[in-house]
Amino acid sequence: MNHDFFEKNSIVLLIGILVAVSIGGIVQIAPLFWVSSTIEKVQGMRPYSPLELLGRGIYIREGCYLCHSQMIRTLRDEVERYGHYSLAAESMYDHPFQWGSKRTGPDLARVGGKYSNQWHREHLINPRAVVPESIMPGYPFLAKTKLDYSDIAARMKTLRLTGVPYTDSQIKAAKADVEAQVDDPDSRGGEALMKRYPKANIGNFDGDGKKLSELDALVAYLQMLGTLVDFTKFDASGPNLR
Ligand code: HEC
Repeated sequence: MNHDFFEKNSIVLLIGILVAVSIGGIVQIAPLFWVSSTIEKVQGMRPYSPLELLGRGIYIREGCYLCHSQMIRTLRDEVERYGHYSLAAESMYDHPFQWGSKRTGPDLARVGGKYSNQWHREHLINPRAVVPESIMPGYPFLAKTKLDYSDIAARMKTLRLTGVPYTDSQIKAAKADVEAQVDDPDSRGGEALMKRYPKANIGNFDGDGKKLSELDALVAYLQMLGTLVDFTKFDASGPNLR
C-alpha cells in the first residue's frame, strides 16, 4: 500500500495527521454552530434577586462549596435522596457555577424549601443545635454582621457583562429590592419585587426584624436553591428544546 510514502516523509505524515484530526474536530464542533443553545431552555429559571445574589457571595466567601456540592447527578441513589437531577439551565446564571467537587456535607442543589428559615438560622449559628452529630462549623458572626449591599448595582452590572439578563429597571431597583425581600410580605416593595423576581421568598430570614444581616442574605439564597424550575412542566424527552 501507499502508506510507505507517509511513513518515510515526516512532513507529509504530519500534514496527514492534521487532516485526520481536523475531520474529527469538525464532526464534533460544526453542529454547535447550528444549535441555538447547548443549554436546554426550561420554564421558571430567572436571574437571582439582589438579596439572593448577596447571599451567594457570602456562600462563596465562607467556602461552603468546599464541603457542599450543588449538582445532583443522574444516578438513581442521588435522585432518590436529593430530588430531580440538576439541569444545565439551573446554573446558567451562576458565575462561577457552584457544582463543587466534594461532599463532606450533603448536596444543596435543592435544599430550598426543605427546612424553615428558623431551622437554617439555628443550624448556621450552631449546627449541633439541630443536628447533634454534625461536623459542620458554626457561623454565628453572620447574624451579627450587617449586610453590606452598597455595591449591589455594580455587581449586577458586572454579571450583565457575562450574559445574565438583568434589566436596567432591575439594576435601578436593586437596593430597594434587597430591603423589600426581608420586609414582611404586605410591605409595598414586595409586590414589585415579586414581579421582577417571580417565586422570590420574602421573609424575615434571620429572625431579627430590625437589622439586615449577612444571615438574611445567606438564608434567602439557600431557600431559593432548586426551587425556580417548575418540574411539573419539565419533560426530559425534549419538547423544551427550541
Ligand atoms: C467542614 C465542612 C462543611 C462546611 C465548610 C459547611 N458545611 Fe454545611 N454541612 C456539613 C455537614 C457534614 C452537614 C450534615 C450535617 C448537618 O446537617 O449539619 C451539613 C449540612 C448543611 C445543610 C443541611 C443540608 C440538608 O439537606 O440537610 C445546609 C443547608 C448547609 N450545611 C449549609 C452550609 C452553608 C451555607 C455553609 C457555608 C456558610 C456550610 N454549610 C459549610 C459540612 C459543612
